[in-house]
Parts: sequence; structure tokens; C-alpha cells
Amino acid sequence: MSPQSITELTIRRPDDWHLHLRDGEMLKGVIGDSSRHFARAIIMPNLVPPVVTTADATAYRERIMAALPKGDRFEPLMTLYLTEGTNPDDVEAGHESGLITAVKLYPAGATTNSHGGVRNIDKAMPVLERMARIGLPLCVHGEVTTPEVDIFDREAVFIETVLDPLRTRLPELKVTMEHVTTKDGIDYIKASKGNLAGSITTHHLIINRNALLVGGIRPHYYCLPVAKREVHRLALRAAATSGDARFFLGTDSAPHVDPMKECACGCAGIYTSINTMNCLAHVFEQEDALDRLEAFASLNGPAWYGLPVNEETITLCKQAEAVTFPGKIETEAGTVTVFDPMFPLHWNVV
Ligand code: DOR
Ligand code: ZN
Repeated sequence: MSPQSITELTIRRPDDWHLHLRDGEMLKGVIGDSSRHFARAIIMPNLVPPVVTTADATAYRERIMAALPKGDRFEPLMTLYLTEGTNPDDVEAGHESGLITAVKLYPAGATTNSHGGVRNIDKAMPVLERMARIGLPLCVHGEVTTPEVDIFDREAVFIETVLDPLRTRLPELKVTMEHVTTKDGIDYIKASKGNLAGSITTHHLIINRNALLVGGIRPHYYCLPVAKREVHRLALRAAATSGDARFFLGTDSAPHVDPMKECACGCAGIYTSINTMNCLAHVFEQEDALDRLEAFASLNGPAWYGLPVNEETITLCKQAEAVTFPGKIETEAGTVTVFDPMFPLHWNVV
């Protein structure tokens, strides 16, 4: 059967290799949208204050487990927020105990709650060297924050001026370039000789920068790294649907309450946990690559992080009538707008 004529698809249960669950009432309001479909997720540490130590991560993991809907099985894979003062021994202990899956590098000022991030990477070298030695991956938000650099060029400049020198200096360090948004990023990963992989979000496979700016400014399509030109979106789609094991799903689902987005200086973040699998099935079908959805969503990520694939499966079915999602979800923290892919969704998880 050609992939185009498939109307039912069973794949191993997917994982989300980049997720913002937040804390408190927001955490309680959104976690069920992830645990419904995903078995595991790499949990971003950019809380206020950030998750910096193994003790912080232990406490945050407990809050996540307490917020999980009864009966759901979901494993949060914890990360630490890298600072210039991060203690290598604490990182190693967290990794040894099995709690810490990765350490996250936010260049200071790059995005939401990143002001405590890294200004001078030299200062983080002792931790990075230790991570390289013990095989603990570094997840990077790959954008420079230099004011002179145009926001649409920040990823490409980061690769050239930060990532490539770092990988030359520490070739044993395993690096995940998260939420790749450019052809430059895809090409860089493809040209690498190992120890580099990239996660791709659902929304960057669907929108380019026009979604954000044409016909009015649309804050619910604003995220960081910001969506780029169409040529970049096409490169992301080709990579995601290629089956290449270096590319996998990281939704970067990042809920903010509406007033924080619909204002003069709105927050970056798009909420996709609830409809990601529906959107992905649509994209992979469009690319005639439904047979590769499992690699992207369920196989490549675990292989990269050295974890077993999930034994459970989920089944996606194509139905005649469009699947409807709420435009907004209500949480005790406030209302969160759901990602609108701007096309009807016919694939559903049954
Ligand atoms: O759009 C984004 N939102 N990008 C990030 O890097 C952070 C995230 C958030 O925490 O809101
Ligand atoms: Zn993120």
C-alpha cells in the first residue's frame, strides 16, 4: 500500500523531546494534554526560578508526578538549566542517579526566563567537559543574543560562532540542537560526523514567518526561535520526514496565558501538546511519508538519548469529518490559546 492510501496507522507511543510544562496551576492544566499521547518528555527547566540543581529537579519532578491525571503513565525526563555557576559534581550526581537526562544551555536573554543563562561559555567549560566525559547530552537553544544580529539570523550565527567552536573544542560532547528552524541548522546537522542531532517542533513544520506577520500581527504564532522563510520550513519538513535518525520530535509546546501574549510585548511560545499528533500525521501524509512518522516521533529520539523505545502503541485514523479542538483551554492559571494549523485536521488518535 502506498503511504498516501493509508487511513489507519499504528506506531509506537511517541515521546516529546522538548516540552515546557511550567509549574503550579498551569502545570496542572496542561500536563494531561501531553500524557494523553506521549510516554515521556524532556522537561524544560526555565521556571522562575530555574531548575538549576539536582535538588531543584527532584522537587520539580515530584510536582509533575503529583499533577499527572490519575491512571496516566508518563515519565518526565528532567533537565538542568546551565548557569555559569553550575557545579559539575552536582550534575554528575544527578546523572548517576538516573534523574537527569540532559543539561540545557540558554544563552542569556535568548528567550523566556533565560536571563540566568550563559553569557560566557568559557565559564561553563568545567561542566561541559564533565558532561562530555560522562556522556550526558547538552540541549541547546541555538540563538545568539547579540543585539547587532538580526533575529532571523540568530540561529545561523549561533552555529558559526558558538556551536561549531564548542564542538571542535569538545568533540566528545553530545549536543542536541533543539527546535531547529533553518536550512542552515539542518545542513549543519546533516554534515556532522556524529554527536549532534536536532529536534524539530510541530509548528515549525507548518508555519513560516508569514503566519506571524501577514494581515496583522498574530501573537499566537510567535515563538523563539521565530519562524523563518518558506525555504527553511521546507528544509525542516524534508529532514523530519526523511527518516534520518538525527532528527526527532520536540514540540516545544510552551503555554502562556492569553494576556501575556496579546499585549504590547508578548511572550514567545506556542501551545501544541493537545493537537501535535494530529498535525504531524497531516504533515507526514502531505509529504507522502506516513511510514516515517514513527521514526520521527517514536524511534529516533530514544535512540539518540540511549533509552528503550516504548512498548505501547497508539493508533491514528483518518476520518472524513474534521477533528475539532478547542480554540482555547481553560486552566486555573488562565486561558491558553491552542495552536491553529490553519487547515482542517482529519487524523485522530483513537
Ligand atoms: O517560544 C518559546 N517559548 N521558545 C523558547 O525557547 C521558550 C519558550 C517558553 O518557555 O515560553
Ligand atoms: Zn523551549
